[in-house]
Amino acid sequence: MSLRLGDNAPNFTAVTSLGELNFYEYLGDSWGVLFSHPADFTPVCTTELGRTAALNEEFAKRNVKPIAISVDDVKSHKEWISDINDTQNVSVQFPIIADEDKKVSELYDMIHPNASETVTVRSVFIIDPAKKVRLTLTYPASTGRNFNEIIRVIDSLQLTDKHKLATPVDWSNGDSCIVTPAVDTEKAKELFGKVEVIRPYLRYVKQPNK
Ligand code: BEZ
Repeated sequence: MSLRLGDNAPNFTAVTSLGELNFYEYLGDSWGVLFSHPADFTPVCTTELGRTAALNEEFAKRNVKPIAISVDDVKSHKEWISDINDTQNVSVQFPIIADEDKKVSELYDMIHPNASETVTVRSVFIIDPAKKVRLTLTYPASTGRNFNEIIRVIDSLQLTDKHKLATPVDWSNGDSCIVTPAVDTEKAKELFGKVEVIRPYLRYVKQPNK
């Protein structure tokens, strides 16, 4: 069965471009972004892994460790990383899992046989420090993902964990946030200051940590 929000992210050991690792040990107390791609030396994947490397500091600022996976072998990953670094003008520092036996891909349901019997689709799992799955995304092979959106969701999840606020449509870091129904308006004023009440169920406050 596929993984659902709130499920425990399954642990595994795997061979990667940075050596063998245990997933939970690799994550430690960090958040994780585990994302699959169909194959090495393919154009869309090359741009995605380049973008992930370019966002290295943004991930680090948020205490997030990225880790990629495909069913290609380590030798191929290492050769491809040189190409990614060259063509995308980056330095890939995060591990890429070589899931030749498809153990991890199957654990995370990343092979969708009606799309392809043999390779992973573009899955994304955001995993929190308690090892709970907090977001799942699945994209087709032909569509590169938007890594700004992945960072945006991490910002929203971390804000929710810290301040018990929600974030509205198209929110980006710094925009007004939404008071959840569990918090009454008096309490919201105490916690966040001014509350803009549009309807009793639709209330905005300034983002607290900005
Ligand atoms: C790509 O990464 O460019 C790609 C991979 C598999 C199918 C289509 C595109």
